[in-house]
Amino acid sequence: MLQIGALTLQTPLLLAPMAGHCDLAFRILCRELGGVGLASTDLLNSHALLRGAKRSLELAATNEFDRPCGMQLYGNWSDPLPEAAVWAVDHGAQLIDINMGCPVDKVAKKHGGSLLLCQVGDTVQLAGRIVNAVCKHTNGRVPVTAKIRLGWDPDRFVAPQLARQLEDVGIAAVTVHGRFTCQMFSGEADWNRIGEVVEAVKAIPIIGNGDITEPHHPRDRMRQTGCSGIMIGRGSLRTPWMFSQAWHLLQTGTASTEPSFNAKCRVILRHIELLEKYVSQATALDCMHKRISWYGKTMGHCKPMKDAVRLAKSTLAMRDAIEPWINKDREVCPSLGFGPQLTHN
Ligand SMILES: Cc1cc2nc3c(=O)[nH]c(=O)nc-3n(C[C@H](O)[C@H](O)[C@H](O)COP(=O)(O)O)c2cc1C
Repeated sequence: MLQIGALTLQTPLLLAPMAGHCDLAFRILCRELGGVGLASTDLLNSHALLRGAKRSLELAATNEFDRPCGMQLYGNWSDPLPEAAVWAVDHGAQLIDINMGCPVDKVAKKHGGSLLLCQVGDTVQLAGRIVNAVCKHTNGRVPVTAKIRLGWDPDRFVAPQLARQLEDVGIAAVTVHGRFTCQMFSGEADWNRIGEVVEAVKAIPIIGNGDITEPHHPRDRMRQTGCSGIMIGRGSLRTPWMFSQAWHLLQTGTASTEPSFNAKCRVILRHIELLEKYVSQATALDCMHKRISWYGKTMGHCKPMKDAVRLAKSTLAMRDAIEPWINKDREVCPSLGFGPQLTHN
């Protein structure tokens, strides 16, 4: 369990926000597979939310199967982030996260994201205003967190002092992606520096993030750094069952078995089903056309299946491409917690 302010997470494993990937369907899929303590929306623009822009409302969509749900906001010091945070609470967020790490030009050059790492004093003030607004609105029930990088570049390793100052203004937890902004996604996440952030704060949980790709990584990284939780991004696109495996390992000390080929096919079918439920056919097709290669990376030789999914013109055709690959005589996936119980409509 991981305590973030008044919110108790059932596991210390968090699904990372990833724009274009962590929509409602994928968040629910990961939760159904087990082991996810918290999942959040992708980054949401404060102005767009407040004026009710259609795309932002779609990105902010959540429901009772998506709990607890964080909503991640981005903006700069003069943007209406406190107001957007209150809006998010009123639209289903159990946690508000402030994006202080996005390195993408269109965000970091003017609107926020990593830009906030460059003016620590102003950013801490902004965080304090958001905390106050949310605290007043919810009576302290909804925590506000921040997701940061180590700093803009190695000459500006601000993460330890920033985390400490964010704690002082009421930020309830800080997630640290162990890269500098200038690295974008290259090189390796620096977990030693994440450990320095853990040392710097008084009591709030630090959640480590970066290059978690195997079920044993969360346990190893928590041991190495003393961080309280682990956030998993790209690894979950390939193996959304990794949360369940990592959680099993954390609880029991023993590794769980790799899901069978059949079980993986079932996961893909379930993902398609959830997409059908929550997004348009066009969006569902677009999503699965891209995602099938991530899934395929752990499925051995299945090129004909992947090709057929990529060429499919409807989600029904996608199912028809996958179904024949399931060997019905060998249907077992006990360690996934994934089976007929997942039937919500
Ligand atoms: C395609 C993509 C989109 C991302 N979008 C967001 C985002 O909306 N908000 C955010 O805080 N981080 C975002 N990130 C960063 C991830 O949350 C995470 O910090 C990063 O990928 C490192 O973790 P990983 O190595 O486990 O993927 C994104 C990363 C990727 C690859």
